[in-house]
Amino acid sequence: MSILAPIMKNIAVIGSGTMGNGIAHTFAQFGYSVHIIDTSEANLQKGITTISKNLDRQVGKGIISAPDKPNILNNITTHTDLKSGVEQVDLVVEAATENIDLKLKIFKELDQFCKPQAILASNTSSISITKIASVTKRASQVIGMHFMNPVPVMKLVEVIKGYATSDMRSACF
Ligand SMILES: NC(=O)c1ccc[n+]([C@@H]2O[C@H](COP(=O)([O-])OP(=O)(O)OC[C@H]3O[C@@H](n4cnc5c(N)ncnc54)[C@H](O)[C@@H]3O)[C@@H](O)[C@H]2O)c1
Repeated sequence: MSILAPIMKNIAVIGSGTMGNGIAHTFAQFGYSVHIIDTSEANLQKGITTISKNLDRQVGKGIISAPDKPNILNNITTHTDLKSGVEQVDLVVEAATENIDLKLKIFKELDQFCKPQAILASNTSSISITKIASVTKRASQVIGMHFMNPVPVMKLVEVIKGYATSDMRSACF
């Protein structure tokens, strides 16, 4: 993950469920500023509670130190408003519910709200990245980033190209 550091600082994660809170946890652990977006404060609070418990587990195992925990949590901010959560970020990892209409709607909005140079990634397990990219005006900057569960434990991430994904951009990873 540290290979992202020279070019990316701010990451947004859409969805604070099983995968979203794990993805946010992992980016925050490695020093990125993370914005989590979900549909309600209650969902966001549930995600943060899970991250906090999983950080405690990492402290218990000696993976991080006790003072690391508040620093990692301080790297995370939460939003119910998509625009405010994504407008400053360099990379979005969408991990919302696996539903094609929902993801197409989210990517249309991401394309509107994100900086032109931002990269948009989906953690989808089954939906075509080409299809998702087609609703944006930046198909060359849309990728799949398929994390494994539980994210803070699993080191593998599959990076998936769509039909129009630029080789130059994907090479940045
Ligand atoms: N669970 C796994 O093992 C696993 C593994 C790899 C990939 N995936 C993929 O990751 C994605 C998320 O899966 P999950 O298991 O974390 O689901 P989940 O149901 O645990 O979490 C989904 C979250 O998305 C939120 N959400 C729904 N609509 C939203 C919107 N418009 N804006 C913001 N947030 C919204 C929900 O409130 C929920 O908190 C899916 O695409 C799934 O296919 C899951």
